[in-house]
Amino acid sequence: MNNDNYATWLEIDLNAITANYNRLKEISGVPVMGVVKANAYGHGLEETALHLQHIGAQWLGVARIEEALQLRESGIQTAILVLGYTSPKRVKDAQKANIHLTIYDPLVAHMYEKEVDADLGKLHLHAKIDTGMGRLGVPAEHAPAFIEDLSRVRMFNLEGVFTHFACADEPEKPVTLEQISKFEAVLSKLKEKGIDPGLVHAANSAGTLNFPQAHYHMVRCGIATYGLTPTASMTLPEGFVPSLAWKTRLISIKSMPQGHGISYGHRYHTREGERIGAIAVGYGDGMRRVMGNHVLLRGKKVPMVGSVCMDQCMLNLDAVPDAQVGDEVVLIGSQNGSSLSATDLAEEWNTINYEVICGMAARMPRRYIRSH
Ligand SMILES: Cc1ncc(COP(=O)(O)O)c(C=O)c1O
Repeated sequence: MNNDNYATWLEIDLNAITANYNRLKEISGVPVMGVVKANAYGHGLEETALHLQHIGAQWLGVARIEEALQLRESGIQTAILVLGYTSPKRVKDAQKANIHLTIYDPLVAHMYEKEVDADLGKLHLHAKIDTGMGRLGVPAEHAPAFIEDLSRVRMFNLEGVFTHFACADEPEKPVTLEQISKFEAVLSKLKEKGIDPGLVHAANSAGTLNFPQAHYHMVRCGIATYGLTPTASMTLPEGFVPSLAWKTRLISIKSMPQGHGISYGHRYHTREGERIGAIAVGYGDGMRRVMGNHVLLRGKKVPMVGSVCMDQCMLNLDAVPDAQVGDEVVLIGSQNGSSLSATDLAEEWNTINYEVICGMAARMPRRYIRSH
């Protein structure tokens, strides 16, 4: 792949996404919703979703209706569930574009009922139950009555019921088993009432890997689809491959005099003759403005020095005397047998790999690698 045109760019390996997606299908034995919210975890919403559709995904998950509408505009026909809040004002848009919405609040359900346009067919809904996440969802104890009310609305198609796990990446905690048992109590109540919950789903990536009893009719996987572990303490089973690499170039090399300040705020000062490199990446691309970042250059782990700027950062080139302007620099990915993962970067930034990849800026070109 010729990337000479670019100063900084992402390489998205669609073959890795295929491998990861197929592993998740094998492990769960049920359909896998490809979660593509937040620009497909930085990978590029449309290309990633088109690829998932191409490899057979029957469901895609987004957070906002704007993401779902963008997917429809780009020709995606797969079923799409908006996992987060949708304003009642967008109900007709959802009906027109055949987008499935999440419902968890009786007041919002009532507003949806008022907004539904009978000429556009039924509004497809998945009821979300809070079994312990403490975020969105009707509390489990109120869920049977709430779902029964929804099932009575003529213009609603109650198509599914789901919950979300708070601690599935920490299987040693009792929380997930408690959530599963609350969820199943709601399902039993619905059965007693003769209400068909439709598609039952609960597991995110960590739930899929750690709690086989929670696979139900479908699993919803984001991070593992992209070949990353849900938490630094978990390792993925064999066959998962990270799908995103982040690269840039060395764009300047200078030998500095003793005590020269580097970058905004002069938070670093050079030794006599110290070689300082600049690379074409900054916080405008998603790099974090923290000290202590590293990159790969000629296969060596090289430290950044001075403050991260919007479009550039500086390196100390002691470890790479042969470095030349134009060299490829790796922020996430592999080079000459060394590698830096999004999870490594997350550790340097004191955060999680999800935040690292979701923060990849829109301005960066995304180069898609696919088999021919
Ligand atoms: C409701 C819901 N389901 C599934 C997922 C996918 O989670 P993960 O990326 O951990 O697989 C998310 C993402 O946060 C979510 O909010």
